[in-house]
Amino acid sequence: MYSRIAGTGSYLPEKILTNKDLEALVDTDDAWIRDRTGIVERRIAAEGQTTCDLAEQAARAALAASGLAPSDIDLLIVGTTTPDVVFPSTACLLQQRLGMGECGAFDINAACTGFIYGLSVADQFIRAGTVKRVLVVGAETLTRMLDWSDRSTCVLFGDGAGAAVLVADQEPGILSTHIHANGGYSHLLKVDVGVSRGFKAEPRGGLSVQMVGNEVFKVAVNTLGRIVDETLEANQLGQGDLDWLVPHQANLRIIKATAKKLQMSMDQVIVTVDRHGNTSAASVPLALDEAVRSGRIKRGDRLLLEAFGGGFTWGSALVVF
Ligand code: ACO
Repeated sequence: MYSRIAGTGSYLPEKILTNKDLEALVDTDDAWIRDRTGIVERRIAAEGQTTCDLAEQAARAALAASGLAPSDIDLLIVGTTTPDVVFPSTACLLQQRLGMGECGAFDINAACTGFIYGLSVADQFIRAGTVKRVLVVGAETLTRMLDWSDRSTCVLFGDGAGAAVLVADQEPGILSTHIHANGGYSHLLKVDVGVSRGFKAEPRGGLSVQMVGNEVFKVAVNTLGRIVDETLEANQLGQGDLDWLVPHQANLRIIKATAKKLQMSMDQVIVTVDRHGNTSAASVPLALDEAVRSGRIKRGDRLLLEAFGGGFTWGSALVVF
């Protein structure tokens, strides 16, 4: 038994924040941001618009594409580091919004790797025969916890959501998923505030993304290089056997390094970082949905999805679409 992607969906908030807009906020410039990250603009959730609001739009689009109703879903997984509230989980809020009945529903916090982790868990449930239809969502409002005076982080992130409906099928489907983490790197990329530490009556409750960007960059390039090897080896495939790379959209230079490692031309790489920025757990499903809807990714194509994020966490999925 395999899990097959029956439909994808995504949603981006309307408000666009350009690099030029950021020049008015911090000591930065459009040329630096484009050159060092590939980002030109990003979307920002409207006031009052929550992660669950974004997730709902993406989920409805994915369900429509799959031809399934919310009540057909057996399990709901949401990858997010920016839940609406501590609990109920965003998955529980979304389940109620969609009118899904009483299927299992939970969030996964694996930072930017949240969607890949969700895909991996969903795939295990389907392969085990426990469930037949899973909705996996990656949704974030990361811009809510940015320090807008810190140029080294505030230029990088955006808000959005993406989703995929997985169904049990005799035909592949997801061929393999691979997930890893190393908590020893937590000091390089973190939001250091939670219920036991650091709550403040300051702006954003003291929440702010802190990152040692150049160190994260080096580990990301190295680690993603290793996980693409691991994924190809597990499936006894070579570098020429992939149709598309659907990478996490953090930085165009990291994406190019992974494509180079795979000897793939940039024509075979889905890039949205220029328009979305880094939307964390939403970035891979957003890129996937955009490529599916534009007709670039077609049924039967072989895709490598990968992500790297805070934790550190990283993961990949090899998928026949
Ligand atoms: N505008 C202008 N200058 C800037 C800006 C900015 N927005 N930000 C930093 N600089 C300056 C720095 O102050 C530094 O100046 P200095 O040399 O005078 O000290 C200079 O630019 C170079 O800084 P670096 O940090 O070394 O720049 P780098 O080329 O590494 O690019 C970046 C920074 C874009 C953050 C890059 O390191 C990166 O993309 N890192 C990885 C991000 C990532 O993948 N995160 C994982 C996912 S996120 C998650 O999980 C939540």
